[in-house]
Amino acid sequence: MLKGSVALILVMGVAMLGTDAAEHFAWPIPAWMPAPPVPKDNPMSAAKVELGRHLFYDSRLSRDGTVACASCHEQSKAFTDGRELSVGVDSTVGVRNVPSLANVGYMPQLTWGNPHMTTPEFQALVPLFGDNPLEMGSAGQEARIFAALADDPYYAEAFSRAFPERPAIDLFTVTRALGAFQRTLISLDSPYDRFKYWGETDAISDAAKRGEQLFFDHRFECYHCHTGIMFSDNLQTSRSPVVERGNHNNGLYNIDGRGAYPPQATGFIEFTGNPADMGRFRTASLRNVGVTAPYFHDGSAATLEDVLDHYANAGRVIAEGPYAGDGSKNPYKDTMIVGFKASDQEIADIIAFLNSLTDETFLTNPDYADPWPEGHAASINRVMP
Ligand code: HEC
Ligand code: HEC
Repeated sequence: MLKGSVALILVMGVAMLGTDAAEHFAWPIPAWMPAPPVPKDNPMSAAKVELGRHLFYDSRLSRDGTVACASCHEQSKAFTDGRELSVGVDSTVGVRNVPSLANVGYMPQLTWGNPHMTTPEFQALVPLFGDNPLEMGSAGQEARIFAALADDPYYAEAFSRAFPERPAIDLFTVTRALGAFQRTLISLDSPYDRFKYWGETDAISDAAKRGEQLFFDHRFECYHCHTGIMFSDNLQTSRSPVVERGNHNNGLYNIDGRGAYPPQATGFIEFTGNPADMGRFRTASLRNVGVTAPYFHDGSAATLEDVLDHYANAGRVIAEGPYAGDGSKNPYKDTMIVGFKASDQEIADIIAFLNSLTDETFLTNPDYADPWPEGHAASINRVMP
């Protein structure tokens, strides 16, 4: 969460998103897909992306050298960590499930529920320096960390290649390189894409084809929120002047019968103070959802079956414990959470469809993998989940 001290570091002004800065880069995307927008002051370059990848996998960016971005964002899990809630330095358990970084450059707002978080450059400050929860715990350690990076022969050259006009190793360059790398994390090559956009009629199973019909059917209403190319009503591209933003309460909790959510998981209301924003979160993209369990902003659904149970019931009933309540009666719940009766076969079909969104090319692309040689100081103490 972006709190206190972190906001003070916001001296960098990466707000302007422009079209020009997105051109002239060899994006890993099909010709029909526009590039993600790129901030005017952080144009893409291969050297910068490569530097960003090294930083992403470098645990020396954390206070005690144990946690890299990649500790919580693992490629084989579409850059999630498989945990309910994230775990940072000192084994600090966070308050949110780790979202996938697939197509993150196309997301007009980042994280589960912060309408003001709009660029990965800005977002990187949260894991690096945030203290609520501690993720990499590096506040106050900047000078030591940047000096350690400068001692590494790789970085001594890489920063000059990536930022020839301003090669200093500092927050300006580190966050921009991380941002450039993350914009290349594009996943559009699932079996469903081959079926849908490339005309490969047998790329997905018959069950997945039936599941597709159900997903786009009024009976289930999934597509109202999980819409378009990203299966989310959140999208920005370098060619479209309009950004789409979608945040909804889908009835996960209702602790007091008046719509309350757990104190750590209240959503938009935290930033807007508007009671109607209680429990509103960004619509998750469903790309690669087959490998990003557990689900929801707090990891409270273990499987896709659990997620479907929740939607079938038009909200989740929690029978006992501190969060007991009937989420289906949450007064702030979105009207598209309608509930449905479905056969086991239909549920299995929807899940087969969701699994057809798993993009193996993305999960195994060597351009996104750990670049450091085994035993290197960048990774030697890194704790992976
Ligand atoms: C301790 C685990 C942890 C570490 C380390 C970590 N993250 Fe994250 N990351 C998270 C969690 C949890 C969220 C969701 C936060 C929220 O919704 O409030 C997140 C969200 C994000 C998002 C937003 C994604 C989206 O879909 O909106 C980006 C981008 C991101 N992290 C990049 C990074 C980068 C870059 C680093 C390294 C500098 C990093 N993360 C380190 C746990 C971690
Ligand atoms: C009213 C909008 C809306 C509708 C309709 C909707 N969803 Fe969602 N979906 C969301 C939001 C918002 C989230 C994130 C909620 C949270 O974490 O609190 C989400 C999360 C999910 C997740 C978890 C993703 C993850 O990475 O954790 C899955 C899977 C999912 N939805 C599938 C479906 C299916 C299948 C349907 C149809 C039966 C459906 N959704 C209908 C808005 C919607």
